[in-house]
Order: sequence, then C-alpha cells, then structure tokens
Amino acid sequence: MSAPETLHSAIVAPQGVWWKPAHRAEKLWISIAFGWCMVLFAMMPLWHLKGGQNPSGVRGRVEPAAFMARTQEFIRQYQVGEDHGIPVVEPPAGADIYLIGMMWRWMPVLRLRQGVHYTLHLSSFDVNHGFNLYPLNINFQIVPGYDYGLRIVPNQAGDYRVVCNEFCGIGHHTMVGRIVVVDSTAAALPRLADSTGTAVPPAGASPDTAKQGGVR
Ligand code: CUA
Repeated sequence: MSAPETLHSAIVAPQGVWWKPAHRAEKLWISIAFGWCMVLFAMMPLWHLKGGQNPSGVRGRVEPAAFMARTQEFIRQYQVGEDHGIPVVEPPAGADIYLIGMMWRWMPVLRLRQGVHYTLHLSSFDVNHGFNLYPLNINFQIVPGYDYGLRIVPNQAGDYRVVCNEFCGIGHHTMVGRIVVVDSTAAALPRLADSTGTAVPPAGASPDTAKQGGVR
C-alpha cells in the first residue's frame, strides 16, 4: 500500500520543478552577475589606492603652536594687503602655503594664480574645523595636530569663500575665509615689508598702486 500522491508529509517529496537543472540562460546570468560582483570587489581596494577622490600630497603631525608660527612666518614673507583685518598673502609659484583655522576665522586670505602649482597646508589652532571651498564642493576635515598638505593647481579664476562646515562653537556660522584666484596675466600686488602695513613698491610702480590694500 502506498501513500496517495496528494498527501503532504515530511516523508513524501513535494511536487515541483526546483531540483531540475537550471536553464542555460539562468546559468549565464548568474555567471555574469558573479563576474560583476568580483569586478566591484576588486575595485574597492583599487579605488582606495588609485581613486581620484584621494587627496594629493603630504600629511603629518604638527603642534598647533608650531603650525601657527609657520603661518605667521608665511604671512610675514608674502603679505600684500589686508582684508577686514585678515592679512592677504600672495605666495610665489610652487610655494608651500598655509591656511590656519581657528575659532572663528581662517587666516590668511590667499591670493593665488590660476594654473600655478602650490602645496596648501591646512591645520587648526584649536578644535576641529571643516574646510569647504565655496561654491565648489571641496571638503576637508581640519584637525588640530595634523598638517594636511595638498598639492593644488587652481584651474579657475574667481573669488572663493572658505566656509567652516564643522560645528566649532558659538561663532561657527561666522567662520568664513577667502581665497582669490587671479589669472596668470593679473598684476602681482606689491609686497608689504612687514605686517604694519608699510608697502614696498616694486621697481617702476607708482606710490598709489603700492599703497593699495585688499585684494582684487
Ligand atoms: Cu570652524 Cu565651524
């Protein structure tokens, strides 16, 4: 005597087609999906090492006071003016340039040239700040104790803002810095001898252009 075909039990195998070999088309699609998974899996480490999102340049530790001293020295060497009490600095091509974040400002204002290479050092004097180059979407964490050296070539002239995008206290919303990129044909601003505002006119410049402060 045998159990009827319709009986459902653990002993009698259920009706179905699931044990039949997969169709050729199904095998093909599974192979393609698996192959693509492997490609994406390999891309993860590859992109981590080679991806365009990686910041270029050097990173290292630095004492906040030491970074402040380097920034002050950088300002002393290349200051060309002042913008709302913040020194304006025009560094030469290829220079190491410094931008320090502190509660609640960025120092100095940088006047850079389009198409020229610089190494931009970013760090903080006190707490975490966020470097956000507005209106471009370029973001970095600015961490005290760490020097973030980015090799940059400004590729677009303009008057940019550095907006702090990491909450850093009561004045966070006022923490806006400035980076001006002028094209390669723009005249260099005359350098200041020191931070007291005394201009040193370049050879052939009129006293009027030598005295101008601010950035254009
Ligand atoms: Cu600095 Cu928010």
